[in-house]
Amino acid sequence: MNKGTVSIIAIAVVVVAAWMWNESRYYDAPATPALTVVDADGNAVGEYRPPLARDMLAEENADSIIYGMRLLNETARLLPDNVGNGLNCNSCHMAQGKRPLGAPYINTINDYPKFMGRPQAVLNIQERINGCFRRSMNGTPIDESSEEMQAMVDYMDWLRGDVEKGHRVDIKNMEYFKVAEYTPDPVRGEEIYVQQCAACHGANGEGMKDQFGDFIFPALWGDESFNLGAGMARMSRASPFVLHNMPIGVGLDAPLGQITLSKQDAVDVSAYFTVKPRPDFPDKIYDWPGVPKPADFRSH
Ligand code: HEC
Ligand code: HEC
Repeated sequence: MNKGTVSIIAIAVVVVAAWMWNESRYYDAPATPALTVVDADGNAVGEYRPPLARDMLAEENADSIIYGMRLLNETARLLPDNVGNGLNCNSCHMAQGKRPLGAPYINTINDYPKFMGRPQAVLNIQERINGCFRRSMNGTPIDESSEEMQAMVDYMDWLRGDVEKGHRVDIKNMEYFKVAEYTPDPVRGEEIYVQQCAACHGANGEGMKDQFGDFIFPALWGDESFNLGAGMARMSRASPFVLHNMPIGVGLDAPLGQITLSKQDAVDVSAYFTVKPRPDFPDKIYDWPGVPKPADFRSH
């Protein structure tokens, strides 16, 4: 090799290395910003980041945590006897329960047992999970002492990281804005649905399945969707969920050019899809016993 060839190779190596170094910055996902952990008085006591999935394997109960993660992701496929529609838990609990304002499981273990208005009772975590089985999944409860229940609880407990009982990560599960202050316009909601939702959720709310019969895009109404007793059937729940999570992949702080929803848009489109036909929940008559039912209670 003469000197010329050597320097050409050397320059080539430097150029390729420089290019790879530059590119590598784009291959690593940015670190998740830390969330603040607060004590019962709201004082900051630490930081929280969702634990990394690969670190699950180091846990003593790794098998159960992983099984729980699968059950929450693939509920309809793995628990056909208990799921009466096509949904998975994580059809609504966004990013495997790791997303603030997307009905996360981050504080769930620390927040239960908890008083809930709907049954007017203190529920433990197992009862709360079964509430979603009966309503959101239009199904039947699973045995509270089953391996499956334990696995889902173990996943949620793992997700809590080292935030101790009595402390919580300073986030909201949903942005419960005052939906009643907006006048819903379902006709405008239909226009928004056609433009911004139908491509994934289907012209008739039927969603879209892959070749194995699992939902890629879950159903928003019809037999395969949540029933009348589900939180998502209520305007006060559907509107904030849609506001912060849909169309999927587009946040409220989206870069220029992406279309995001306003609160009025979220209210209008929710007024359109929530009232579409869906399975009934006859036991809804027992909800809010002895207290006035909320304005968005779904009797039909
Ligand atoms: C159709 C949507 C939907 C589906 C599907 C769904 N959920 Fe939920 N779930 C909700 C909503 C809405 C809430 C109330 C969110 C809030 O304000 O905390 C909720 C609340 C919960 C809570 C209480 C969280 C907390 O910290 O208070 C748990 C636990 C839960 N769901 C578990 C499950 C499990 C397990 C499944 C599957 C068997 C499931 N959910 C399926 C919509 C859904
Ligand atoms: C790019 C595809 C896409 C678009 C567009 C989209 N969604 Fe979704 N939506 C999803 C996916 C995927 C999920 C399930 C969550 C997951 O898998 O992470 C979901 C979940 C939901 C859920 C909870 C699950 C269920 O079946 O009830 C609702 C409600 C919802 N979307 C409403 C809307 C509304 C309203 C719009 C329009 C404003 C919209 N979505 C636009 C993909 C989309």
